Amino acid sequence: MPLTDFPSPSSSPDFDTDVIIVGSGPTGGTAALALATYGVRVHIVSRWNWLANTPRAHITNQRTVEVFRDLGIEEETHRHATPWEWMGENPVVTSLAGEELLRMPAWGAGEERRGDYLRGSPCPLMDLPQTLVEPILFKNAAERGATSSMNTEYLSHAEDSQGVTVHLQDRLSGRRYTLRAKYLIGADGANSQIAKDIGLPITGEMGRAGTLYTLFNADLSSYVQHRPSIMNWIVSPQASYGELGVGMMRAIKPWTQWIVGWGFDMAKGEPDRSDDAVLPRIRALIGIPDIDIEIVHKSIWYVNEAYATEYAKGRVFCAGDAVHRHPPSSGLGLNTCVQDAHNLAWKLAFVLKGHADPSLLGSYSAERAPVGKQIVLRANQSRRDYAALKKVFHVEGADNPVAAGIARFREASAAGAQARLDALEALDIKNREFNAQGVETNQRYTSSAVLPDPGVPDEVWKRDPELYLQPSTRPGAKMPHAWLIDAHGKRISTLDLVGKGKFTLVTGLAGHAWAGAAERLALPFLHVAVIGQKAQQDVYCTWARLREIDEAGVLLVRPDGFIAWRHETGVDSPDAALRLLAGALAALRLHA
Ligand code: FDA
Repeated sequence: MPLTDFPSPSSSPDFDTDVIIVGSGPTGGTAALALATYGVRVHIVSRWNWLANTPRAHITNQRTVEVFRDLGIEEETHRHATPWEWMGENPVVTSLAGEELLRMPAWGAGEERRGDYLRGSPCPLMDLPQTLVEPILFKNAAERGATSSMNTEYLSHAEDSQGVTVHLQDRLSGRRYTLRAKYLIGADGANSQIAKDIGLPITGEMGRAGTLYTLFNADLSSYVQHRPSIMNWIVSPQASYGELGVGMMRAIKPWTQWIVGWGFDMAKGEPDRSDDAVLPRIRALIGIPDIDIEIVHKSIWYVNEAYATEYAKGRVFCAGDAVHRHPPSSGLGLNTCVQDAHNLAWKLAFVLKGHADPSLLGSYSAERAPVGKQIVLRANQSRRDYAALKKVFHVEGADNPVAAGIARFREASAAGAQARLDALEALDIKNREFNAQGVETNQRYTSSAVLPDPGVPDEVWKRDPELYLQPSTRPGAKMPHAWLIDAHGKRISTLDLVGKGKFTLVTGLAGHAWAGAAERLALPFLHVAVIGQKAQQDVYCTWARLREIDEAGVLLVRPDGFIAWRHETGVDSPDAALRLLAGALAALRLHA
């Protein structure tokens, strides 16, 4: 299904726009892009003059790239990103130029996991810093009709039975004014005023640890290009502070722009961030005492472990860091933001276009709040899990515990052998941060926007659900990826048959009764994909292995690629198919 013509936005004179989004970060940008793509009038408000000014989030996992593919920006994002092949040789070193102690294949890029990732999705991971992804989202949203007010502060809002009146202030002129919309999205980040204004219940702890990050320019190619990796861990007496106990050096622009981060003791207040304090440490972590370094930016960042248990109230929906606040470990920040926005956008579009009852919107919180909780806990656990690595290179009671730990690791002694065994275990634990394909892709939704199979037992996880993707066509799971070929023999994914703002009825050649039923219903939001037809042939038979239903059975796939309903077998007559399909659409509160 090509993504070509974008529908003209609907117009409603009583409202300035249909949806106001406060925030132009990854959440607001994705929500605006998706809504504009679906033909909804949407207006973005942001307090700053422009988009992200620091690279912050970067790991872009396969599910997020699938969302980009659905929204028609996958190619553009790949053009700007550091490719998957350069992401994954995570070394543990005494300094970048120093001794290498361990190396861990990460982000599925190592031999052992690469096949799992390739099988799981048509989309390679990428590393796309926030400074690069935000302009792509924003530009495409604007090209498709989204409007915006930068330098504009959200002050408050008032909701009534018809819509939301949003009070804003132009920060350049000081002028205060209101805009009226049918819905408001709070994509206003970790200090969300909107989440506070609607009283969302937030559980957990803010600011439980602190990190000092420095962005700098230095050409470090000669120390790293033989083992390309986005992340480098430094075990050194110069870096063993804070919860992680290791320094982290992240490539922003291979291999000339970097972020270095180390923890600090919050009890002692904010650390000295003068150049005089920071430069010697950076040079020590690089391992070259006189290397040229240009400092670009320094920031203090606090580790949060907090999530909202509800994401919405009335006509106001919060998404992204507004509802889940956690450290960068596991790289789940931007990814979860993008996926929240993708989940919410089609539901708003369906309600605004009259395709669905407004009660559909209740499923947003029901589906995304459990994911938010899961990723907040996972990201914080990933930080705590550094304890095992820290222990490998730490001799308790020694004058210089880290130097002694590094020496022990090299020793031909029983203690050295034990440290090397402990290292193996420490790296296995870190797979849950760096090769956690399951965490990234195994979401299962339970809500009114999913109709469970009657009488089917609970899903059994065949492998560790944090580490491995388990494809499934159970309602509430995402449509599995399988390669098919089109009429010219070119590979297309099953994911290319679904989405683009529509529901898709997926069946096989033997499922003609379902296809006929969908044609009789002739709904503007329902597309039919018959796998086996010339344009989408299952030549590898992968889909036949994955689909878990008969060829004559059917899946009803939502615009966000999640399965809403399935019928495992064929039916005797087109009338029976029509009855069952219409029943499912009605139960999903869609207006058939
Ligand atoms: P985000 O905070 O990006 O955007 C909020 C938006 O709301 C902004 O556009 C702002 O202008 C606007 N806004 C807020 N209040 C407003 C108001 N009252 N009026 C108008 N506009 C308002 N994550 C990760 O996965 N890996 C990483 O390495 C890092 N590193 C990192 C470092 C640092 C220093 C920070 C601060 C954060 C990270 N993160 C991260 C987290 C990641 O950056 C975060 O998950 C996303 O930026 C969240 O995106 P949102 O769009 O939800 O909010």
